[in-house]
Amino acid sequence: MKNLFVVENPLVQRDITILRNKDTKEPEFRSALSRIAYCLAMEISKNFKLDLVEIQTPLEKTLGHEINQQIVLVPVLRAGLSFVNSFVELIPEAKVGHIGIQRDEKTLMPVDYYYKTPKDLHLSKVIILDPMLATGGSASAAIRFLKERGAKDIILSCLIAAPEGINKIQVDHNDVKIYVAKIDRELNSNGYILPGLGDAGDRTFGTF
Ligand code: PRP
Ligand code: URA
Repeated sequence: MKNLFVVENPLVQRDITILRNKDTKEPEFRSALSRIAYCLAMEISKNFKLDLVEIQTPLEKTLGHEINQQIVLVPVLRAGLSFVNSFVELIPEAKVGHIGIQRDEKTLMPVDYYYKTPKDLHLSKVIILDPMLATGGSASAAIRFLKERGAKDIILSCLIAAPEGINKIQVDHNDVKIYVAKIDRELNSNGYILPGLGDAGDRTFGTF
């Protein structure tokens, strides 16, 4: 499928198993999420463009590389926060915006409550961080907000996606590349991903 990339890696498979297990407690849950975020960041960064720069080693001049575009990470609160540290460690020059979106538990419609992003979105590669793509309502709204502020080059980075969510993003925003660690089977009648891992925000932060 165009613009859909599944990050295949045995370590990712092992960590998804840890995340799915209902007995996994917050410390181990957060560690597994962070490790998968590293793998996603490595995969996404394969397409970063580089500029050549001249540097001086202790011995002679040589050519090196630097990223030629501003990178903006945008975690969707709350669960997206769990990806930030890994991405920032690998891309320390990145700026970080935040979008607060919560699904209304009855209607499953996204409700936004916070928005703050850096300047020059139109010149940036914007990477949305949100572990769960369920109905796709939250991610689609986040992409819309970013486009309204000028973003043109947007990547959505997820842990688990339902086919329904992937379809919604591809219908609403077919220019957005989706990177995902696992595509699950379907949504249940409450909009939860099956088999999934439950509520990613609650399991990350221990709010049950
Ligand atoms: C979760 C998750 C996504 C959203 C996905 O957030 O982090 O943002 O659900 O569902 P959707 O694709 O159907 O919109 P939630 O609303 O549970 O908020 P939280 O992260 O604060 O727990
Ligand atoms: N949000 C979650 O955290 N989990 C799901 O299964 C669906 C939406």
